[in-house]
Amino acid sequence: PIPAKCLLTSVRVPWYLAKLSSVGSISEEETCEKLKGLIQRQVQMCKRNLEVMDSVRRGAQLAIEECQYQFRNRRWNCSTLDSLPVFGKVVTQGTREAAFVYAISSAGVAFAVTRACSSGELEKCGCDRTVHGVSPQGFQWSGCSDNIAYGVAFSQSFVDVRERSKGASSSRALMNLHNNEAGRKAILTHMRVECKCHGVSGSCEVKTCWRAVPPFRQVGHALKEKFDGATEVEPRRVGSSRALVPRNAQFKPHTDEDLVYLEPSPDFCEQDIRSGVLGTRGRTCNKTSKAIDGCELLCCGRGFHTAQVELAERCSCKFHWCCFVKCRQCQRLVELHTCR
Ligand SMILES: *[C@@H]1O[C@H](CO)[C@@H](O)[C@H](O)[C@H]1NC(C)=O
Ligand SMILES: *[C@@H]1O[C@H](CO)[C@@H](O)[C@H](O)[C@H]1NC(C)=O
Repeated sequence: PIPAKCLLTSVRVPWYLAKLSSVGSISEEETCEKLKGLIQRQVQMCKRNLEVMDSVRRGAQLAIEECQYQFRNRRWNCSTLDSLPVFGKVVTQGTREAAFVYAISSAGVAFAVTRACSSGELEKCGCDRTVHGVSPQGFQWSGCSDNIAYGVAFSQSFVDVRERSKGASSSRALMNLHNNEAGRKAILTHMRVECKCHGVSGSCEVKTCWRAVPPFRQVGHALKEKFDGATEVEPRRVGSSRALVPRNAQFKPHTDEDLVYLEPSPDFCEQDIRSGVLGTRGRTCNKTSKAIDGCELLCCGRGFHTAQVELAERCSCKFHWCCFVKCRQCQRLVELHTCR
């Protein structure tokens, strides 16, 4: 495995978005100048699209929360983001974890911008009105579908510009661009139709529908599956340009929707604060699971402590007319296992 130090740096790169997520409102052009970690082209975009920047910030927040949710039971739990030393060095390693972080970030930005468009918060965009009229299935399109095209285009220009400015031929830039796009594809392939019924007492005489983005949880879940099946790639000259191809020729080529990575990951077992790896000491594990959340794997074979803890729960809940529920507090003893 590669040293954790390299890994961390590569995972940290898109967290300029994380920094963005923690600033207050971005309402003046000067704020764009002060945002840490943005490159010059992004500062320009920020100034020209001030009203969109709050959605970018919200998208970054969504991405971080979703990453932590999806990885809550794994050794790397996506929490190496805050309070870590900043490495100035640009590293070329790109791991699976970095692939996921890039994908979920660009998806988060596309998602939040799209939502802001449909909710009427932004002057530059609104609903997608190209889907209208009566559908072949006989329902009426509402004429206000989620404008995913705008969200995706914004994410492409704002998020991808970092890679394009590096010269899109470095392996790492190719990897990031691919995974950024895979993140946005995860929204596009899960778009759905939502409807509302109108008519006497809930009958569905008239149905109006619109195209909507999926819940972000579903996007996170889809990308987590792509993470598990990610393809290790290497750069190869194809004609006059470079492309990433599977390292193992026996694997089927990846699609636009798959995640790709260049380097294997470290095992994340031991703490190395200077590198920002927290290790798994103290993590809660599942004694009976054979998967990565099980004590054996999560604790890297070091064993675990068991403690009895009291859990406060609501119990004996009764419904009172009308309308509230009254419960008692009960204490329950449970065993809690934590890694040594
Ligand atoms: C991730 O794991 C570390 C310990 O390794 C723990 O301190 C932290 O709270 C965890 N973060 C989340 C979001 O679960
Ligand atoms: C622990 O793992 C077992 C087996 O995978 C599972 O059935 C159980 O729900 C898990 N317990 C918790 C608290 O997650």
